[in-house]
Amino acid sequence: MKTDKIRSLFLQFFKEKNHTIVKSSSLIPANDNTLLFTNAGMNQFKEIYLGYKRNQTSSYTSSQYCIRTGGKHNDFNKVGYEPYHHTLFEMLGNFSFGEYFKETSIIYAWEFLTHKKWLKISRKKIWITYYYKDIETKNIWLNKIKIQPNHLITIYDKNNIKYHSNNFWKMGDSGPCGPCTEIFYDTRKNNKEKKKIKNYNELKKYCVEIWNLVFMQFNQIRSKKLIKLPIPSVDTGMGLERISAVLQKVSSSYETDNFIKLIQSIKKTIKIKSNNYISLRIIADHIRTATCLISENIIPGNEGRNYVLRRIIRRALSHGYFIGLHKPFFYKLSEFIIKNMTQINVDFNISSNINVIKKILLSEEKQFYQVLKIGMYKLKKEIIVNQTKKLCEKKIFHLYETFGLPIEITKDICKKKKISINFQKLNQIIKLNKQKQKKKHTQKNQHSSCLIHITKKSIFDGYHEYIKKSKITQIIYKNKSVSYLSEKCVGILVLNITPFYGESSGQIGDSGKIINKKGTFIVNNTQKNGNFTAHLGYLKKGILCVGENIVAKIDSKKRKRIQSNHSASHLLHAALIKKFGLNIVQKGSYINNKYFRFDFMYNDNLTEKDIQKLEIIINKKIQKNIKIHAIITSFSRAQKYNAIYLSSKKYKNTVRMICINNFSIELCNGTHHESTGKIGCFKIIKYKNIGNSIKRITAITGIPVIHYIQKKINKEKKIQNLLKNNSNDIYKSIKKLVNKISYIKKEKKDLTNQNISQISKNLISKAYNINDILIIISYISHLKYTMLKNISDTIKQKKESVIIILINKNTSIIRFLISVTNNIIQHINAIDVMNIIFSILSGKGGGNKNIVKGKLENTNIISEKIKKMKKKIIKYIHENNIYK
Ligand code: SER
Repeated sequence: MKTDKIRSLFLQFFKEKNHTIVKSSSLIPANDNTLLFTNAGMNQFKEIYLGYKRNQTSSYTSSQYCIRTGGKHNDFNKVGYEPYHHTLFEMLGNFSFGEYFKETSIIYAWEFLTHKKWLKISRKKIWITYYYKDIETKNIWLNKIKIQPNHLITIYDKNNIKYHSNNFWKMGDSGPCGPCTEIFYDTRKNNKEKKKIKNYNELKKYCVEIWNLVFMQFNQIRSKKLIKLPIPSVDTGMGLERISAVLQKVSSSYETDNFIKLIQSIKKTIKIKSNNYISLRIIADHIRTATCLISENIIPGNEGRNYVLRRIIRRALSHGYFIGLHKPFFYKLSEFIIKNMTQINVDFNISSNINVIKKILLSEEKQFYQVLKIGMYKLKKEIIVNQTKKLCEKKIFHLYETFGLPIEITKDICKKKKISINFQKLNQIIKLNKQKQKKKHTQKNQHSSCLIHITKKSIFDGYHEYIKKSKITQIIYKNKSVSYLSEKCVGILVLNITPFYGESSGQIGDSGKIINKKGTFIVNNTQKNGNFTAHLGYLKKGILCVGENIVAKIDSKKRKRIQSNHSASHLLHAALIKKFGLNIVQKGSYINNKYFRFDFMYNDNLTEKDIQKLEIIINKKIQKNIKIHAIITSFSRAQKYNAIYLSSKKYKNTVRMICINNFSIELCNGTHHESTGKIGCFKIIKYKNIGNSIKRITAITGIPVIHYIQKKINKEKKIQNLLKNNSNDIYKSIKKLVNKISYIKKEKKDLTNQNISQISKNLISKAYNINDILIIISYISHLKYTMLKNISDTIKQKKESVIIILINKNTSIIRFLISVTNNIIQHINAIDVMNIIFSILSGKGGGNKNIVKGKLENTNIISEKIKKMKKKIIKYIHENNIYK
């Protein structure tokens, strides 16, 4: 049975059971920053599960694209190596909110899997797990389905930690969760099936999990705290690729119809016959994910989702490298995905931006090969310098961390060169680093994670009002809800109404004060998630309690500055589109009280003139003092107005539209001035390319523009003083200075050349002639390595058979350079000479037969040692009968 057929049968089955078919939602969860990516079919219903939203229909079905490469559900390292794991897969699911619960969902699942009208799987092939506390589920399987008791396996908590079990499903660190019952398919051939499966390990070994039925009963609000959900609900998930493998009787989902087609197409495109299936599987899996993520406007980068995408692409490229692909190839593969993944019902459009997808992938590939080139150079140098069959694990990690050379590639090269690696040590270093990263990440996310403790909603009423009477509805101290906050304590206040804007739409959160007669709380920052708003800060004096009336007062001076920057960012966005057309796509923004950044995608570069033009356009709009209106309207109406919006963001039906005449119409929840005049003035202070056709403009508004110009003028004056120049044309004066410097540089070079030639002559005159071979061994202090090299090159140009050893002391380090002319290297080469030197003074060095360089142990009796070296080299020449 073809994969596409299985998907449609599933949806049809549940449609017949009165379920509404919904589209796969976007891979980026809408308005939910607790998740990096959509990781289950239930995500799009999260608000219904939690009781925040009621819907008339109470049962749904879907085939949802899911990504599991970060956060709680992360299969990244298993992909390619294990038969049924993917970074992106389709999950078939049915969901019920109060309509049916455990019994009906188990009966439905059984019917779909075993009935002859549907999948016709033999009941003997099916094994079931259930959560040890969920006796109701156990009894349904035994009494209603009449499953053989020995096909039912009890799953307990891991390490006795409550609800920490394979059969207790959680969406993330917070959110809906509940016990589950999993359905497994026995992959053993018939005769072996008789052997009873005794435990979970055996079950994993012989069977594949195909369907998970979750009974959502709780909301996890912090690590160990679960609260009951308003209505018990059902969430089931069956991996489409897995069930296809079962029905197509193949032993991995990479051998199912759609994957076979994909892998064939990859082999054809990259013209490769390799049967290195692991690498091919990884490339096949990763091109699906990368293509879909870029379609969702995610671009490769160094943080969050963007970083996950970069990791996926780089892992695929490393595997390409293993099978001999050393030039960009990955971008070509996206075309197959675009053509073949569009037929299913998804809420994002894969096909519309094929050229953009290819371009982004290609540019990422080019960047990767550049990284690879530098990393490989460093690695090879390391291997040569050490001349050893062992590479230090710290070095491998350093090559990865500093130069981005993938560890897998280093391992592969070392394997080929028979260089041993202590994997245990390497893994330890990687683990330690991960822990360090995690700590950093947690610290960074401490603010947003504080939101999970908030249970009381707030209404934001601070677009025009900066002071508001309100009430404290919740206080959080040390991750716990408390009834009061004492003096000098750091905590979070929640208010029923607040004028404080919580960080969102790129705009930072407000700061200010929350006060009453008893206490003063200083708000340093405001964070929000949906209707939950956290006022973070500390109690400067007194005491504040839950239920008390207070006055909330934002720092209005700071807010007005933020507003200036936010309104100016809209003007900039509109001006860019007016000037360069609709192919300007916003990629992000950051707005605070000091400046703002605006990132956008544009294929060309902006010139200095373009930047100046933009400044003029925007300042003219400011001067006209145009009214700024905020209009609440429907999303479809806003689209009719051609309002600008972020295609990567999901909008609700009612949206807020900020209009500055017809010049700028943009969807935005941020705070703005009432008219453009309040912005004062506008100046771009930085423009740069941040990769992948993404440009970043940093700009300032109002008084900071004056400060900026004053600073520039002061600097100019200082330069003028320095130049002792009273003329107004600093440019001319500096140009004169630059010319003078290049003249002096040239003069110095000539002198150096003369010097080199003089030193070389001197050295030649003091050389020893042994069997017509000149030996030059000399101690020269305070010269740079390049000078030593120039000296040895000059000598080699003048003399035919020569061994040059130059020893040089700079500060406390003794360096050496050995150079041997070509005509004698088959008898005595630079490495031989280096080994002779090392027999007198220990050191470290490397290079080739012509030239080596390195370091020697520090000693005060260097001239004595040099004499010994000379003697030993002469002895070597005599003993080995070496002649010119
Ligand atoms: N949410 C559950 C899972 O992902 C069932 O759909 O396994």
